[in-house]
Amino acid sequence: MEGPDFSAMMSISRPELIEFEGISMIHYFTDDWENVQKFQARPDDILIATYPKAGTTWVSYILDLLYFGNTAPERQTSMPIFMRVPFLELVLPNMPTGVEQANNLPTTPRLIKTHLPVQLVPKSFWEQNCKVVYVARNAKDNAVSYFHFERMAKGLPEPGDWNNFLQNFKEGKKVFGPWYDHVCGYWEKKQTYSNLHYMFFEDMVEDSRCEVERLCSFLGLSTPLEERERITECTHFDKMKENKMTNYSTVPTMDFKISPFMRKGKVGDWKNHFTVAQNEQFDEHYKQRMQNTSLQFRTEI
Ligand code: A3P
Repeated sequence: MEGPDFSAMMSISRPELIEFEGISMIHYFTDDWENVQKFQARPDDILIATYPKAGTTWVSYILDLLYFGNTAPERQTSMPIFMRVPFLELVLPNMPTGVEQANNLPTTPRLIKTHLPVQLVPKSFWEQNCKVVYVARNAKDNAVSYFHFERMAKGLPEPGDWNNFLQNFKEGKKVFGPWYDHVCGYWEKKQTYSNLHYMFFEDMVEDSRCEVERLCSFLGLSTPLEERERITECTHFDKMKENKMTNYSTVPTMDFKISPFMRKGKVGDWKNHFTVAQNEQFDEHYKQRMQNTSLQFRTEI
């Protein structure tokens, strides 16, 4: 199976942040907006939704192995995860759009990734009662991971220095908008939409075996214990970091000399980045932004 031709992507330059449908965005995620909104989901599609850097790739790979790990060996050895699980709203020069890639998926189910906040998810996913897997990560680690990702991913706006980045993160001036609204939006949705499985990155790090089991039960899969064990091992951070199909090392717009995609995979790395003052101010702001939700996060395990 051939990988995509990334040569055209070499010309990608850092985009400006724009205001779009009430959130901050970049044109790489809005250029195909009409087709994204018109996307026709099928009842057996599975939508993997996250705020950027919350563990999308990890849960994508778990789902891919649960459904296709034993049926398609070639898929596992020569098809990068971002081709197995298309990124719905992504549009890059001279590449099939995310919508086209999703429409061309030959698999059942189709695994589809999005970072869109809940209010911008194409309607058909809800109308078709699709299963939705949402992964959330505590704001502090999520911010740190996003900062390093913006430094290395040339298709995103310049992050500025850490202090600058953190200020913008708090103000929601990041691609896909405020973290706060994103995690709370899906949390609210879950209260009325039972086909939404809300997971936490911290739980996955603490006990990935248990999270794989919970996923199976949500998805209605009777994957044998032995197979679940194998999947848990294959999707360990160290294994995924070495695996060219999951570590994004084939994408030329990412500069691994600045920071690897699979960076640390830890809970609590924020302590190596936040100053005491930044932490106090962040906590104060967090309390205000999260005062109306029952959603709770762990910043250490
Ligand atoms: P860090 O930058 O903190 O290391 P996404 O896939 O949503 O872009 O998220 C990327 C983040 O998830 C990175 O966080 C990455 O290292 C982490 N990650 C990916 N796979 C992981 C795994 N198997 N175990 C732990 N963390 C993982």
